[in-house]
Order: sequence, then C-alpha cells, then structure tokens
Amino acid sequence: MTKRTTPIIVGNWKTTPATLDVAVKFIKQLDKKCTTSKIKLPKKAYYLAVPDIFIPTLSEISSGYIGSQNVSGISLGQETGSTIPSMLLSGGATFTLVGHSEVRARGETIDERAHKMALSLQSKLPTILCVGEHTRDKEGKYLAKLEEDVKQSLSLVKRNLFENLIIAYEPVWAIGGDTPATTHECFEVVIALRRALASIAGIDYAKRVNILYGGTVAKDNAKLFITDGGVDGLLIGRASQEITTFANIITSCHSS
Ligand code: PGA
Repeated sequence: MTKRTTPIIVGNWKTTPATLDVAVKFIKQLDKKCTTSKIKLPKKAYYLAVPDIFIPTLSEISSGYIGSQNVSGISLGQETGSTIPSMLLSGGATFTLVGHSEVRARGETIDERAHKMALSLQSKLPTILCVGEHTRDKEGKYLAKLEEDVKQSLSLVKRNLFENLIIAYEPVWAIGGDTPATTHECFEVVIALRRALASIAGIDYAKRVNILYGGTVAKDNAKLFITDGGVDGLLIGRASQEITTFANIITSCHSS
C-alpha cells in the first residue's frame, strides 16, 4: 500500500461475535453510522479482521475492507485446519494479519511467520505484520529485538512486495489491558521499525510502509497516536467489537 494521509483504522474481532447473524447486524449498523456521520469519511473508512468463516458474507455487505486474522504459509497441500492466501482472496478477504501476539503465544515460530509473510505478499494480499515487546528494559534492548523480529519475519520477502506491507506495533503488555503505550513510547518504536525496514529494503521502500499502533486503543486516545505517536493508523481489539465505540474512533481519527 502506498503511504497515505487518511488513517488506516483496523479492527480485530478475534473470536467475536458468536454468530454470523450478529456479525451482519454489526456491519449494517456500523455502516449506517459511517454514512450518517457529520465528519466526511472516505468510501472505505475501516478495516476489520474477522473470523475466516464470516469473510465471504461480510465482504459482500461491508463498506470497509474485510480481512483475516492469520494465514498459513504452506503453499498448497496437506495441512489440516489451515487457510492459505489464495483461499482468503477468493473468499473476499482484502488483507490479513500475521504474527499477532496471541498467535505467537500458540507457538508460531519465526520460520513459520517468515513463510506466511512471503506467501501472503507474493499472493498480493495486503499483510499486516504485528510485532511488539513483552517487556521493556532501561537500556532499550527491546528495540534491537523488535528490529530483529521485523528483519527475520521479512527475510523471505522481496522488496518490490513492500507496497502491500503494513507493520503494526503492538506492545504485548498493552494488549487487552488498561494501560496503552504513551505516544512518546510509540514514536520511539516507529523510528526503530523504519530503521529495520530501511536496512532490509532501503530508505525509499521503508518510508512507504504504513505503521500502525495497537494495544488498549480507546475513543479518547486513538487520534493522539496518529497526531503524536508517528503512526499511520491503529489496530484495535476490544474497542472494535462495540459498534458505537468503533464508529466514534473511525470518525475521530478522520476529523481534522
Ligand atoms: P486491545 O487488543 O485493543 O483489546 O488491547 C489489541 C489487539 O490485540 O490487536
């Protein structure tokens, strides 16, 4: 994706809602709020990473981008219970997350992640690589670890595929809690991530990659990450699972 001035607002529904019926109602109400909003929104004002089984239906009715929360890096073959990028694309997905900390916690290896990134980007599926530290240390060693994570996760990706790459900085200590990173903490990591991207692909490619922040994003702090935190958008868990809150975040981030 080319660097843009409109913010990229991505919701992560995780294992919600419980049924397709509820998901359809959610999207209809969200779209109604977007179209009647006093703030002028772009045609596609949000991204939602939803359970794979909902993608074909929601991508038909949603005004936004509907995508997946994970993808397999095995090309075609005998892997029970996995979905590969071509399947997601043919089912209506327009993007996917890779490397979310909850997927990593279930045992995703760096090698698996590198294959997921390569296959997904080769398949022209816009891909959001999630990275984030578990803890911070005063010497800033976590920054070097994050840079190394990005380099290894992208080790099989050719730089001409960077146009469909997005990075989400999600400090693990901020996910699902009540304390987000400060905008300053976020800014510092954005610089480290761009440094890592530049070392792999050169500064011109690095500049074009959009970077998001995720971890306890809420209505009151959302826009600050974009204005002061140096990011191009947000990856939002809980606050994207409630219609009014998500709609408010979308509109506040698009307001001038
Ligand atoms: P949260 O989750 O916004 O609920 O902290 C973020 C995420 O897991 O992507």
